[in-house]
Amino acid sequence: MKTIIEPFKIKSVEPIRFTTKEERIKILEVAGYNPFMIHADDVLIDLLTDSGTSAMSSDQWAGIMRGDESYAGAKSFYNFEAAVKKITGDEFIIPTHQGRAAEKIIFSILGGPGKYFASNTFFDTTRANIEFTGAEAVDLLVEIGKHPEQRAPFKGNMDVEALEVFIKKVGKENIPLIVLTVTNNSGGGQPVSMQNIREVKNVCKKYDLPLFLDACRFAENAYFIKLREKGYENKSVLEICQEMFSYADGSTMSAKKDALVNIGGWLSLNDEVLAMKCRNLLIVTEGFPTYGGLAGRDLEAIAQGLEEIVDEHYLQYRIRSTEYLGEKMLSAGIPIIEPPGGHAIYIDAKRFLPNIPPEQYPGQSIVCEIYIEGGIRACEIGSIMFGKYDEHGKLIPAMMELVRLAIPRRVYTQSHIDYVAEVLIEVYKNRSKIKGYKIVYEAPMLRHFTAKFKPL
Ligand code: F0G
Repeated sequence: MKTIIEPFKIKSVEPIRFTTKEERIKILEVAGYNPFMIHADDVLIDLLTDSGTSAMSSDQWAGIMRGDESYAGAKSFYNFEAAVKKITGDEFIIPTHQGRAAEKIIFSILGGPGKYFASNTFFDTTRANIEFTGAEAVDLLVEIGKHPEQRAPFKGNMDVEALEVFIKKVGKENIPLIVLTVTNNSGGGQPVSMQNIREVKNVCKKYDLPLFLDACRFAENAYFIKLREKGYENKSVLEICQEMFSYADGSTMSAKKDALVNIGGWLSLNDEVLAMKCRNLLIVTEGFPTYGGLAGRDLEAIAQGLEEIVDEHYLQYRIRSTEYLGEKMLSAGIPIIEPPGGHAIYIDAKRFLPNIPPEQYPGQSIVCEIYIEGGIRACEIGSIMFGKYDEHGKLIPAMMELVRLAIPRRVYTQSHIDYVAEVLIEVYKNRSKIKGYKIVYEAPMLRHFTAKFKPL
């Protein structure tokens, strides 16, 4: 059959509260034109993030009931540990309450002034955790990854030549580790090829540097490898995941993505001394090493989620449904990062609204319009999130002005996605009437969460 169906039936439903356009205009004004400030109950389709928003399966809910809540040595920890080991092959598995907690631990141990870390692209919390220690985070994405309109199978790859130049420039003794983010969230949810992982590993080996995966969307990345990389078409996704992790010396993970749970994460590694240091810090900041800030039931849900995430019917539906939205938008002429990513579609706001300059935040204009038009919540990933000011207070814009439509896992059906496309097409048709925004309040750090805006 041609039609790819959702590979699940729906047992429990969560009603959507409908609002009118007039109500949404008011709601947005009260929220200071910032979608992070809107009550979720006032949103029809929430595409703010794919993180922690997955629908759990009946087996995961059964796991919640089975959760062993012993403080130390809970059965659920051992189930969790075995499930993570099966995928990563790593020796030491440390649970954390989410991805950034794992990052905080590893980077506060390895970071500090004078240290440098490199990645294809660091996610913003990862970068913040590195910079917070006084170290520097450097992105070395391949050139094609910086061009939204150009298609390539692996636009999340790291520039291997640039990596070597970087190592020679700052000195290998100042680089505690190299990170590959799979898939590359900040660069359009684009995958990294196995060949690139291997090449990066070879450079790391040459200079005796450890390689870590920021593994949040490892299964989506593996499925892209299966679809697009020669030699992998007949391998199982689990085998591909295992090979990806086999080149890494460790990983940080947000289980809120590709472990299909609402909270959780891990830090995995093979270096025993480093693992001991991490566990000591974990005890101070997260919890005892067999629960790490989670409940036993959360660990059980992660263990089950890791079984389900490598299911190829699930991944086929997942990757295809994101692509389906992307195709509908492209056929209406809406500019997006091409090809569509794994977990999200990224609208290219610069091309959508060429008359609105970065200082007037074109991405935010789109975010506001799609909320008003259809109650859809999305997220600006552009100069509000990444813009900085120069010494005269003038905005230094971000490299790209994007709007991310992140798709929660197993939550929305095809008709929800059809509705999203319809709203976007309507907004695009009326784009000549859209105005820019100015910031009227902002916090000194991570301003996108709390900033307030006024339409111009
Ligand atoms: N790394 C990547 C690539 C991420 O996308 C995220 C989270 C994290 C690390 C941090 O994990 O949220 O569990 O602490 N991304 C979410 C998003 C927030 O919306 O893309 P966390």
